[in-house]
Amino acid sequence: MSKLSPNSLPAPAFDDPKHHLRIYQGDCLEILAQIPESSVDLVFADPPYFLSNGGITCHAGRMVSVNKGDWDKSRGPGANHEFNRAWLAACQRVLKPNGSLWVSGTAHVIHSVGFAMQQLGFKLLNDISWVKPNPPPNLSCRYFTHSTETIIWAAKNSKSRHTFHYKLMKEINRGKQMKSVWEIRPPEPWEKKFGKHPTQKPVALLERILLASSNEGDLVLDPFSGSGTTVLAAFRLDRHALGCELSAEFLRLSLRRICSNLVQVDLSLTCVEFSLDPFPDPMDRSSSAHSPAVILSEAKNLSVLCVSAQTAIREGRTFSRMSPQLQLVQQERRFYFIGRSDRRVIFTVLAESLDEARQKFRASGRSDSDALFIIKTETEIYLA
Ligand SMILES: C[S@@+](CC[C@H](N)C(=O)[O-])C[C@H]1O[C@@H](n2cnc3c(N)ncnc32)[C@H](O)[C@@H]1O
Repeated sequence: MSKLSPNSLPAPAFDDPKHHLRIYQGDCLEILAQIPESSVDLVFADPPYFLSNGGITCHAGRMVSVNKGDWDKSRGPGANHEFNRAWLAACQRVLKPNGSLWVSGTAHVIHSVGFAMQQLGFKLLNDISWVKPNPPPNLSCRYFTHSTETIIWAAKNSKSRHTFHYKLMKEINRGKQMKSVWEIRPPEPWEKKFGKHPTQKPVALLERILLASSNEGDLVLDPFSGSGTTVLAAFRLDRHALGCELSAEFLRLSLRRICSNLVQVDLSLTCVEFSLDPFPDPMDRSSSAHSPAVILSEAKNLSVLCVSAQTAIREGRTFSRMSPQLQLVQQERRFYFIGRSDRRVIFTVLAESLDEARQKFRASGRSDSDALFIIKTETEIYLA
């Protein structure tokens, strides 16, 4: 990560220098102390809410404990406030002069956060009400149904000239000025397919925040990165990112989420190149629009072919039925091994089965643990 001096920091638990993404395992206060002053463009923080104190809530129609984990237990209002002040001050130190910070929270924590921001001289810009459609019902029937979280947006100090992409927000809001009330659904099932974090934020929420207040190439910091939502959103929007997380379990979850996205990007650079000679009569070539050599240098083309092939198979159709002229010119089953330490394709092989591919992987001198993911692709290329 070019904007940080790597020597002063401990080894990151996740490092992708190509996309400038890094996550450290540890206490954010200790890690933030090692980050150079005025080096970060934007902070998003989703700190402990201090609400895991034996309450109940409703999940999927059932009564469940509200406890999220030890990290979310209250230490009493005074100690909670001191903690909020400490990490907010640490974030303020690393923010660039025009940088800004967003903090999400419920009533359990957000008033302390707002007060600490005022004490530290942040400039309050907005308090966003994030409205969750279809919130769980209130089981006690003694309160209104909790359906919002507050997200405070503040600039480093009163002199800051913060970034705000007003026009883009208006465009996203169908031409009307965007209000400070945002209705955004909780994380979708695809966001939880690698595992669950009890307080995971939706990618859509982070994407709106990053689009509103940062530029491509900016460095975004999340001191409580949890399942890595901020780092993932930063990657998707070409921002650089730095996360801190205490828990090894949540780190592993972030890694699975982020790597699956990295793999998609790396595979999209795969080049498939082959020659064919479909016309037995050389005279055909001069009069035909077909080229005798097919080169697919962008996987976008390749995936379009694959997807349509799979759809056809699922629907019980065959290409020959769709168009009798189609000629199968290339068919292969390929396995990609994505490295555990450097998230790239470290080995690729054609094989009939996963077992055969793994044998070949081992035969190449690697051990099973060198790979984090194995991706199988089946390619059929037809001459249209
Ligand atoms: C509210 S959650 C963040 C969830 C995250 N926004 C997401 O979308 O997954 C807070 C996270 O901070 C972590 N945490 C708590 N105290 C911390 C500390 N002092 N330093 C770093 N991480 C901490 C917890 O383990 C938890 O995963």
